[in-house]
Amino acid sequence: MKDIITLGIESSCDETSVAIVKNGREVLTNIINTQIEIHKQFGGVVPEIASRKHIDNISNVTKQALKEANMSFEDIDIVACTYGPGLVGALLVGVGYAKALSFALNKPLIGVNHIEGHISANYITFKELEPPFLCLVISGGHTHLIYIEDYTKFKILGKTRDDAIGEAYDKVARVIGLEYPGGPKIDKLAKEGQASIKLPETYFDNLDFSFSGIKTAVLNLNHKEPNINKADLCASFEKATTNMLINNTTKAIKEMNVNKVALAGGVSANSYIRERFKILGKELGIDIYYPELKLCTDNAAMIASAGYYNFLAGKISSLDLNAVPNLKIG
Ligand code: KG4
Ligand code: ZN
Repeated sequence: MKDIITLGIESSCDETSVAIVKNGREVLTNIINTQIEIHKQFGGVVPEIASRKHIDNISNVTKQALKEANMSFEDIDIVACTYGPGLVGALLVGVGYAKALSFALNKPLIGVNHIEGHISANYITFKELEPPFLCLVISGGHTHLIYIEDYTKFKILGKTRDDAIGEAYDKVARVIGLEYPGGPKIDKLAKEGQASIKLPETYFDNLDFSFSGIKTAVLNLNHKEPNINKADLCASFEKATTNMLINNTTKAIKEMNVNKVALAGGVSANSYIRERFKILGKELGIDIYYPELKLCTDNAAMIASAGYYNFLAGKISSLDLNAVPNLKIG
């Protein structure tokens, strides 16, 4: 079979990324232009600035991707872009650019759900991984426990009822004085502390999550006891949030009778979470997967991979594709 080359575009938040991926799994290039330094000074992503920066960057990032892959536009077979969920102004830049490319090159356009993209990052890291499996998507905007029935068939088993886990990490980091994005800083500081502080964990009868309770508890504690040991607080917060993830995932493993669990999304870069899931895998005798670090946070290679599988399934978008900021999966 002829190789299929996908050009992927990601612009849902504060990363302008363009990737070229062969047959859905082999990354030829994955350029990620991050705006973190700009948004840092505001303590979080400023949507209007993000979309303006995407406009400034997208054309150059695309040129850079082609150059690095030693390719020209004529070598591209499919154009895939994130069309939701995300910041509307940011999404529109990638969607508009992808539509123009698809039209000009006369190649199929594939609109990709960003969460599906995060899941697909695992296909790039693990060439042998195939559905069905269970995936825990933990990122700045999402906390979903999903059964991956097939490459483009999903069943949501549980999701957060309030804050996404990454949102809680970023908020906690901010109040204890760590820079945006706080997740990686908590990861680092927690290694110097002990999980000695009792924090509330929330559980439901079903597989839903909630992180607003623990977030508020940490904020209140930090306010009442400004001299509290920050490293201990980070370690305790990491442990309690991971307990919730492990609890629901264990229930879902039994319910769905699966032997493969994948992690995905920015928070799956967390070293403590990875370690706990590795232990869970050993205990239950199941395989645990998580993408290499660069593919955990937002990038276009994962979008190209998901785009490829949508293409194979005949899920091709029309040129009136629009950004859908609250796009659902499944
Ligand atoms: O997947 P992502 O890049 O964007 C969304 O789709 O939301 O995830 C970004 C989130 C941020 O909340 C960031 O703090 C978190 O991932 N994150 C981490 C780590 N690295 C990134 N959280 C905990 N530990 C990390 N090592
Ligand atoms: Zn993301």
